[in-house]
Amino acid sequence: MAIIAPSLLACNFLQLENECIMVNNSEADWFHLDVMDGRFVPNISFGLPVIQQINKVATKPLDVHLMIVEPDQYIDAFKNAGADILSVHAEACIHLHRTVQYIRQQGMKAGVAINPHTSLDCLQYILEDIDLVCLMSVNPGFGGQKFIPHTYTKIKQLRRMIDERNLNVDIEIDGGVTEHNAAELIAAGATVLVAGNTVFSAADPMGMIKKLKNA
Ligand code: DX5
Ligand code: ZN
Repeated sequence: MAIIAPSLLACNFLQLENECIMVNNSEADWFHLDVMDGRFVPNISFGLPVIQQINKVATKPLDVHLMIVEPDQYIDAFKNAGADILSVHAEACIHLHRTVQYIRQQGMKAGVAINPHTSLDCLQYILEDIDLVCLMSVNPGFGGQKFIPHTYTKIKQLRRMIDERNLNVDIEIDGGVTEHNAAELIAAGATVLVAGNTVFSAADPMGMIKKLKNA
């Protein structure tokens, strides 16, 4: 069974507490929180104060996805805000190895996210040092986009890289995940499914989470 991580980017922010309670009461495993700075991606979402509030009500791990430049500057701050898993983009980190080491030193799980065009090669010498790879299956910056099909090839190749080395690294798929592609993503080797619009635009979000969980 995959880990299900609803992305609050697609939630009703006027009802943030109730949306968090819904996730708490659902079969979801993590909260996926998308931080965008308007520089790494062409959009701005939410940041530390909002995550601090979510952390007060959330009863499940906070999976924070940083789509920001110079993420090193904010690792302590996101730890203090409540992040349990912290993912940085490989494209945003000059010293990626140093960055993921520091994330782990702060007591968080370390994730590396890569854009749809970024090769798995950049993970070659870092895979042993991280807990999660976030494969972007849309171009980061916006929810509700269409899944990019070449992601399946990437998942299978990454699955092989991880298994060959006997590692325990999660493969998280982020963008365009639906109840229709969830099973195929898991079959290809994904272990974490992020879902924003599929969950929060559903008539029955808890039921949709259940569907994804049982895909
Ligand atoms: C996109 C974000 C995603 C986004 C996914 O940049 O990283 O987490 O919320 O949204 P959906 O599931 O609607 O594609
Ligand atoms: Zn994300």
